[in-house]
Amino acid sequence: MRIGLLTGGGDCPGLNAVIRAVVRKGEGVYGHELVGFRHGWRGLVENDTVEVTFDTVRGLLPRGGTILGTSRTNPYKQDGGVAAVLATLEREHIHALIAIGGEDTLGVAWKLGDEGVKVVGVPKTIDNDISATDYTFGFDTAVQIASDAIDRLHTTAESHDRVLIVEVMGRHAGWIALHSGLSGGAHVILIPEQPFDVDAVADQLRHRHQHGHSFSIVVVAEGAVPVEGTMTLQAGEVDEFGHVRLGGVGNRLAPELESRTGFETRVVVLGHLLRGGTPTAFDRILATRFGLEAIDAANESDFGKMVALRGTDIIRVPFEAAVGELKTVPPERIAEAEVFFG
Ligand code: F6P
Repeated sequence: MRIGLLTGGGDCPGLNAVIRAVVRKGEGVYGHELVGFRHGWRGLVENDTVEVTFDTVRGLLPRGGTILGTSRTNPYKQDGGVAAVLATLEREHIHALIAIGGEDTLGVAWKLGDEGVKVVGVPKTIDNDISATDYTFGFDTAVQIASDAIDRLHTTAESHDRVLIVEVMGRHAGWIALHSGLSGGAHVILIPEQPFDVDAVADQLRHRHQHGHSFSIVVVAEGAVPVEGTMTLQAGEVDEFGHVRLGGVGNRLAPELESRTGFETRVVVLGHLLRGGTPTAFDRILATRFGLEAIDAANESDFGKMVALRGTDIIRVPFEAAVGELKTVPPERIAEAEVFFG
C-alpha cells in the first residue's frame, strides 16, 4: 500500500516520534510505502509531497517539531479545496492516510471519510483537550516546561515580594494551567472553564499576603476569560478554523491586580516555549505507541478511527467519539486544586 502521512495544526513535541514509528513498522515490518504531505492539509491541496523512508526517520525520536511541517489549512474553507485533496490522493496513488493532529485536523479527516477517503487519526495537542483519549502526547512536555518555569519564578518572586503571573497555552481547556499550577505550587490558577472574577483574585492575593506571605504565583491559561462585564480582553486574528489568536490575558490582568492590591505584579508569557524542543520520555513513548497502532490500523484497513490512550492501553475509537466535543477540565479537578489556593 502507499500510505500518506501528514501533521496538521500547532506543532507539538512527539510528532516526529509518531512519524518514525509509522515508517519503521509500515516500511520495515509491513513493506508499505510512506509518502509525507508537507504542511498538513495544505500538502494535499497543493500536492506537495516529501519522501519518508527508513533512512529519513533516523534520529527523529528526540527531535521536536515535525519534519513534515504543519499549517492550519482547512480544505473545507478553500474554493475547490476538497476536490484538490481528492485529486492529489488519486494522482499520488494513495490508498490510505494517517493524519496526526488536533480537533481541527482530525475533524477534516472525519469529514473526508464521507468522501471515501480512508483515514486513521492520531491525536496530538499540548492542550490535552481531545476527547476519548486519556492523554495526548506533547502535554506532558508542556507541563514539565511550565513547571520548571514556575519553580524558577518562585525564587525570584519571593526575593522581590512580587506577584508573578505565568501565562500558559490552553485555548479552550485549562489542562496545562491546572497541571503545571499543581505541580509548581501556584497560589491561583485561572482556566477557560471557569470565568474569573478579578476582585476575587485580588482578595485571594491580599488574604495570602496578610497571612505571612510576601509573594504569589498566578498561573493563567491564555484562554481564561473574566466574568462578563468585569474586564475586557483584546481580540486577535482569526484562522481558517475560526480560532482567534490568543495571548495577552496575563498582561491585561497584571495592572488590574496591581491597582487593587498594591503588590508589584509582573508577567511571564510562556507561549510557544511550551511547544518547542525535545519531548519528555512519557511523550516519546506515547507518540511511538500511537504511531505503531496507527500503522496497524491502516494495515488492517480499520479506517475512520483514531488511536487513543485508555489507562495503559492503546485502543482505537471512532472519529465521532474523539472530535465531537472537546475534553475540558471537570469541576472536581478544579476543586482539587483549590485546596492549595491563597
Ligand atoms: O492548539 C494548541 C495551541 O497550542 C493553543 O493552545 C494555542 O492557542 C495555539 O496552539 C497557538 O497556535 P499558533 O502557534 O498557531 O498561534
